[in-house]
Amino acid sequence: MPDPLIRSLGLAEAERRLDELAALLVDAVESGASVNFMRGLTLDEAAAFWRGQLPELGHGSRVLMAAEAGGRIVGTSVVTFAHQPNQPHRADIGKMLVHSSLRRQGLGARLLAAAEAAARATGRTLLVLDTESDSAGERLYVRGGWVKVGEIPNFSLDPDGRLRAATVFYKHVRLPG
Ligand SMILES: CC(C)(COP(=O)(O)OP(=O)(O)OC[C@H]1O[C@@H](n2cnc3c(N)ncnc32)[C@H](O)[C@@H]1OP(=O)(O)O)[C@@H](O)C(=O)NCCC(=O)NCCS
Repeated sequence: MPDPLIRSLGLAEAERRLDELAALLVDAVESGASVNFMRGLTLDEAAAFWRGQLPELGHGSRVLMAAEAGGRIVGTSVVTFAHQPNQPHRADIGKMLVHSSLRRQGLGARLLAAAEAAARATGRTLLVLDTESDSAGERLYVRGGWVKVGEIPNFSLDPDGRLRAATVFYKHVRLPG
C-alpha cells in the first residue's frame, strides 16, 4: 500500500465520512487504547462522538487532519483552538489515532507533525494534550519533542475498566517564516 496521504478534512467531507471515522475510533478502543471510551463502543456511538466535533469544524475553531490510504481514513489528529479570549495562542491536540494494522510505520509521527503545522498556520504556538502514561502515545509525544508536565494518577479507566495514570504534555511551536 502506498504511504497514506495526510490532509485536513473540511466539514462536508467529515460529515460524509462519519462511518470511516467511527470505524477508526472503534478500532482504537478495541485495540485497548484509552481514548475516552470503554470497550464495546458501537459504531453508532463512535459516529455520535465525531458528529459532536463537526460544529467547531464548521466554525473554524477545530481542524481535523486525516490520513487516507486505499480510499479509507486510516488515521486522524484533531487540533482544537482554545476559545478563551486570554488564550488566543493555545490549542489542544487530541484523537491521535492510527489504524491498528498500520501502526509502527511512522504514521503517528506524521499525523502529529501535521497537527502541529495546522496549529502553527493559524498562529497557535502553545499546544497541550494528555495521554495515558506508559503508552504508545506517551512515547510518540516524547519523541516529537513535547515537554512532560507531570503525571496524574488514576486519571481515567482504560477500555477494560482499569484505572490508569495520565501524563500531561505541552509544546511551544514557532510561527511559520
Ligand atoms: C499512538 C499512536 C497514534 C502511534 O501511531 P503509530 O503510527 O504507531 O506511531 P509511529 O509509527 O510514529 O511510532 C510508533 C512506534 O513505531 C516506531 N516506528 C516508526 N516508524 C517505524 C518503522 N518504519 N519501522 C518500525 N518501527 C517504526 C517508532 O519508533 C515508535 O516506536 P516506540 O513507540 O517504541 O517509540 C497509535 O499507537 C494509536 O493510534 N494508538 C491508539 C490510540 C491512542 O492511544 N492514541 C493516543 C491517545 S492521545
